[in-house]
Amino acid sequence: MGVAVGFSLQPDEAFLELLDPVLRTEPDYFEIAPETTWRGRLGDGEEGPFASNGFADRFHRLGQELSKPFVAHGVGLSIGTREPDPVRRRRWLDSIRRDQARFQYEWYTDHLGASVLDGIEVTMPMAVPQTEEAARAVRASLEQLRAHVPDVGFENTAFLYFLGDPLKEPAWISSCLTGPRTHLLLDVHNLYANALNAGFDPYEYLDLLPLDRVIEAHVSGGSWSEDKWLASGMQLRLDSHDGAVPEEAWKLLETALPRCSSLRGVTLERMYGTVEPGDVAILREELTRLRATLGRRHVGR
Ligand SMILES: [Fe+2]
Repeated sequence: MGVAVGFSLQPDEAFLELLDPVLRTEPDYFEIAPETTWRGRLGDGEEGPFASNGFADRFHRLGQELSKPFVAHGVGLSIGTREPDPVRRRRWLDSIRRDQARFQYEWYTDHLGASVLDGIEVTMPMAVPQTEEAARAVRASLEQLRAHVPDVGFENTAFLYFLGDPLKEPAWISSCLTGPRTHLLLDVHNLYANALNAGFDPYEYLDLLPLDRVIEAHVSGGSWSEDKWLASGMQLRLDSHDGAVPEEAWKLLETALPRCSSLRGVTLERMYGTVEPGDVAILREELTRLRATLGRRHVGR
């Protein structure tokens, strides 16, 4: 079977209604962020898995009705944290175990980075140092995940800073992926954004990356920060999933594809609250283009 085309489901009724015709016809699978289907919060005195919210039922029904499988892409496991909060980590893993029984995720990825620093949860994963100690933390987190989902991995995250040379990140990523059935999720827009913001050549980065470990790729759009953010007036490329996929991201995907020998799916991501009626046709066209791009993929070139 060829590489499947996926689309991200968002916990937003307006998003799901507007895109319903596209969701029914275009993607082969759905990607969900498990945390967006949980309610309850840390420190609420509860034990065990977080309760499921209404979107867990909504997503599951849609998948059942359309016979489409799920993959999971979380944001809050904090796989790069050296000393994770044991209570938080246990509840996270308990929730994943419970969800796996229901959604049967084909694979589970999170973001490379730290989602908890000194006991404080951060919204977006932060960069961690490219050290053997941090790599050990990543490998241990992946092993914990593997107790519940057979294939696991992490995404190259979009960072606004790096703790080390960004062009050394690919080698460090390789050192995190030595365990069995551990994979990389290549997000080409994140790579594009990092290259612009940190000032490196994304093609040089791709040449260094273990592309044979890529199980999934992400394509999405983004936007620019306001020029008033920084005193210099420099604008940053943001991983905001709020617009059309730029040509630079398509080009990076096309360059990487022939070397992604283990690739199983490519997912188009779009954030809720950013889809207007006029965007529906754009998203449909992007999914069509994605399928055509995958059809031209020749591995090993
Ligand atoms: Fe992504």
